[in-house]
Amino acid sequence: MHLHKYEKWWLMLGGGTLIIFLSVIGISAFAMGHAPPSDHMTIDPQKVSETKPFDEPGLKQIGENEYELVMVSQAFTFLPNEVQIPKGATVHFKVTSKDVVHGFAVTKTNINMMITPGHINSITHTFDEEGSYLILCNEYCGAGHQVMSARIEVS
Ligand code: CUA
Repeated sequence: MHLHKYEKWWLMLGGGTLIIFLSVIGISAFAMGHAPPSDHMTIDPQKVSETKPFDEPGLKQIGENEYELVMVSQAFTFLPNEVQIPKGATVHFKVTSKDVVHGFAVTKTNINMMITPGHINSITHTFDEEGSYLILCNEYCGAGHQVMSARIEVS
């Protein structure tokens, strides 16, 4: 079979692009451990405030420089609304919603989750830099959506 020179170029370009894309996905998933936020854990959204650990939202130390941060999203706020985190701490977030779908994005980090009622989202982040981090709801959730925010202070 005869392939024209330009056809070969196009085949190489297409094949090369495919290999690059698959390598990027493969490396980020298997070597760097990137994965969609887990929502395998479920919860009754009617009983969030009675269900552990969401009955006591807040920051809990669970190891040396390691913390669990339990947060509840509800129209139109996050509980707790302000969190102090020591610099260098590794924080395991656990977030759920009491009512509708909310967003949970933390500025200056890769944290960006969709908080669906009935599910518990978890993600881990290490705060290596001091400063103020804004938590934003980035899913439209109703009339007060634009005021729904909280703050993390790392010092
Ligand atoms: Cu909660 Cu928008």
